[in-house]
Amino acid sequence: MSDFIIKGDICYTADKNTLITRPDSYVVCKDGLSVGVYDTIPERYATLPVHDRGGMLVMPGMADLHIHAPQYAYRGLGMDMELLDWLNAYAFPEEAKYADMSYADRAYTIFAEAVKKSATTRLAVFGTLHREATVLLMDKLEATGVVSYVGKVNMDRNSPDDLREESAAASAEDTERFILETRDKYKNTYPIITPRFIPSCSDELMKSLGELSKKYDARVQSHLSENPSEVEWVRELCPLAENYGAAYDGFGMFGSQGKTIMAHCVYSDDREIALMKNRGVYIAHCPASNMNVASGVAPVRKYLDMDMRIGLGSDVAGGHSESVFTAMVDALQSSRLYWRLVDSSLKPLSVTEVFYMATKGGGSFFGKVGSFEEGYEFDAVVIDDSLLPHPQPLSLSERLERAIYLGGDIKALRAKYCRGREVFSSES
Ligand code: GUN
Ligand code: FE
Repeated sequence: MSDFIIKGDICYTADKNTLITRPDSYVVCKDGLSVGVYDTIPERYATLPVHDRGGMLVMPGMADLHIHAPQYAYRGLGMDMELLDWLNAYAFPEEAKYADMSYADRAYTIFAEAVKKSATTRLAVFGTLHREATVLLMDKLEATGVVSYVGKVNMDRNSPDDLREESAAASAEDTERFILETRDKYKNTYPIITPRFIPSCSDELMKSLGELSKKYDARVQSHLSENPSEVEWVRELCPLAENYGAAYDGFGMFGSQGKTIMAHCVYSDDREIALMKNRGVYIAHCPASNMNVASGVAPVRKYLDMDMRIGLGSDVAGGHSESVFTAMVDALQSSRLYWRLVDSSLKPLSVTEVFYMATKGGGSFFGKVGSFEEGYEFDAVVIDDSLLPHPQPLSLSERLERAIYLGGDIKALRAKYCRGREVFSSES
């Protein structure tokens, strides 16, 4: 692995309230890790090549804690229903197509190319229940150079005939095979246990998946307390559980600290929140999806004030865009509506807070990721915000804010690095 230096206008967070801006500075990458940010190149690094991005924004790569790869093909369509109807009308029929490997190949080629060209360097991804197609997805993600956890989805009930596994035992067996086949196959791509959500998985299946997560020390991702009718359904399906989260926990899904991601958490009550805090569960906040399928707005202010583990998710295709910059804007705007319309004690999010969630907050699921502090894995993106012209001088924090709001990742992304390797770079 080659060591190098990026020169540019550097922005990252130290914590959720602290944005660090270092104009015209140098961030040094050695052995795939950041060794820090400097005003001038230290003597001991004087021989390293310098990637000169002077005048451009240089920031950590984005973490997307929740995205459905097979739904990418119909993002921006079918946003006219609530969650459960939307799943039946759009998500399930699309996902059933991934039994066909030639369809999966075409669709996942497009998805992987989009991931490569985005500002995202770390992802937690849902595939479909098809093991073969999900391994193909992992092959394609590995080829991009980003780091991802990818799940073969489990579904053995309450789903259509062409998107339901034969039995709990068959689903669990296939999952074990999936873990064994992929856990040592890649450098940057790892399996994650992925029960779709409680309504799709029988008690017997959930129990087996809990055992598998223990046996292989495997991570887990799923959906939690997203939509009122879903929460009500889970209450009927799990009458003995104190709440939706407790049902997962009872099956061993909340596992050990920092190993589980639960998407949404819009309707989590105080006891469910306390349980997640206690178990170190990550919340994937997916504001676009929550608005599109009319789920609501998650009380992110509460989660941040409680120092919960939290990052952002695009939730494509409940969310219409894979851009984590878009997720930041949606998180900012929806927090303002929540404060104005729902609870004036939960003050709106700040740009620093959402930038933290998009980088270091979500990144921490993957290790020391999402910052340029010493010892962090070197993930970076370069945004040429001169492509978003402005007539007056702006501070670096203003430029960052503006690049987030104006879609700088889509309009002005010039280079991306992950684990110290260049994923792509463009000169124009
Ligand atoms: N809950 C269960 N499956 C899904 C899905 O595919 N998308 C979203 N947003 N919620 C879900
Ligand atoms: Fe989802």
